[in-house]
Amino acid sequence: ALADPIGLPSFKHCHRATISDDINRRCCPPQPKRATIDFKPDSGPMRVRPAAHLVDKDYIAKYNEAYAKMRALSRGDPRSLRHQAKVHCAYCNYGYRQEGAPKQTLQIHFNWLFLPWHRWYLYFGDPGFALPFWSWDQEGGRYIPDMFRRETALYDAKRNTSHYEPTRVDLIYSLGSDKKSDEQIREDKLSVMYNNVAKVKQPDAFFGYPLRKGSSSINGPGGVERAPHNAVHIFCGSPDEHNNEDMGNFYSAGRDPLFYCHHGNVDRMWDVWRSLGNKDFTDPDYLNTKFLFFDENQDLVRVKVKDSLNNEKMLKYKYQAMPDDKSWTAY
Ligand code: C2O
Repeated sequence: ALADPIGLPSFKHCHRATISDDINRRCCPPQPKRATIDFKPDSGPMRVRPAAHLVDKDYIAKYNEAYAKMRALSRGDPRSLRHQAKVHCAYCNYGYRQEGAPKQTLQIHFNWLFLPWHRWYLYFGDPGFALPFWSWDQEGGRYIPDMFRRETALYDAKRNTSHYEPTRVDLIYSLGSDKKSDEQIREDKLSVMYNNVAKVKQPDAFFGYPLRKGSSSINGPGGVERAPHNAVHIFCGSPDEHNNEDMGNFYSAGRDPLFYCHHGNVDRMWDVWRSLGNKDFTDPDYLNTKFLFFDENQDLVRVKVKDSLNNEKMLKYKYQAMPDDKSWTAY
């Protein structure tokens, strides 16, 4: 049937991922040691994710230490940074086919799964820690947060170093579009935030277009995915690498700790959008789509899109309130 949610990806049917015509990689996850469990609503306490430019020294030390630990874990450990990057690679570089429709590849970008999948991707980890977000929509978030260049475990060598402070992040950046004035970058920020987030009312125009079992995975990205999301990835990746690694390519983006901080803010856009009175999809094919993620205990967890819509209630985290939202929501 065409009107069904896409099937749960099977680790047994994971293929080498395609990076480009001539490059493929092993990104498949390890087999879980125990039986798969179903997600249970988070029982708290509430975690408040802070803006990256506002965190203090103690927070930075703890955050850096967490990445040092993830870097030190063996490749086969699903909690290692290496594995985290591979999760993104497998779901995004065609490691999986759609279960029940094996001719169709599975890709969680370019369609309505983009926001919920990445929300789940960021969710698992130390329950006592709240990830920071890079608030590129705010004046305070106009630079790549400093800690990512200074702290050893947060550092990544494959970045565009000419895009560190004092270069402002350009929310509609494309390769080679450097040399804009600060004034122009600020103006473009307000207009893209307004046009791709604040002004968008229809869920498909915001989240992306439907992906159902048997349909092509590439049905059209929503506004927030195209820009700022894609533009910021490309802004951060190194122009000297073949595929704009690390941030500028799906298979490598998750190797850079900056990825998760960037996606914190992408995820926050969903909350901001809801706070403007907009409503989520109610389509059962969307709500019942399932994914698999390893949790902090190395258990494999089956999660549903429907459990991710209300992060405060189901996932027990929220975002620190930001002062500049008004500047672009009412642009
Ligand atoms: Cu899955 Cu920001 O990409």
